[in-house]
Amino acid sequence: MRLIVMISGSGSNLQAILDAVQAGELAAEVALVVSNRASAYGLERAHKAGVPTLYFPLKPYKDRGADRTEYDADLAAKLSPYQPDLIVLAGWMHVLSPVFLDQFPRQVINLHPALPGMFPGTEGIHESYEAYQRGEVEHGGCMVHYVIPEIDAGEVIQQAVVPIHPGDTVDDFETRMHQTEHKIIVAAIRTVIDK
Ligand code: GAR
Repeated sequence: MRLIVMISGSGSNLQAILDAVQAGELAAEVALVVSNRASAYGLERAHKAGVPTLYFPLKPYKDRGADRTEYDADLAAKLSPYQPDLIVLAGWMHVLSPVFLDQFPRQVINLHPALPGMFPGTEGIHESYEAYQRGEVEHGGCMVHYVIPEIDAGEVIQQAVVPIHPGDTVDDFETRMHQTEHKIIVAAIRTVIDK
């Protein structure tokens, strides 16, 4: 199973995948790590693990007024030669259009720091925490799902509740969130491999 992992930031979930592969817990190899941000620490994690990286920013496309789908088409073309069986969005903060998704049917999965239907977008952790403070939710959660054009939606592969306790700071909750995410991202990849 050849994986491409796409990131935009710290890459702690990428690290969980790399560690699981290294430990023989996942029958997979990470063929490429893609980042849309040059400063993403996840690129460093990939280098340390000897995994090839691709930095592919949207900005040059924006600067010349190119249609967003042009970026998606070029990104898909860059990834295709790696012949991925599965593309894992692990903190990838761009929405991918059908121009990209149609190249990899049912081969793209995404980690989201909220339960199905909850807090789509890039602020799932903070929005969950604030909703808890207002008494609107009793807990947070996270999920891994197949990617469809709708943001942070699509068939769920793994999900887990992440508790929020009354005295928690948002950082406490975020730490607990990541601990749970690191488990479900590996479990979700294993579920897909075992299918
Ligand atoms: C994770 O919490 C992930 O759920 C979130 O980005 C973080 C990446 O952390 N993704 C989204 O919000 C997608 N909507 P990491 O870089 O440490 O793996």
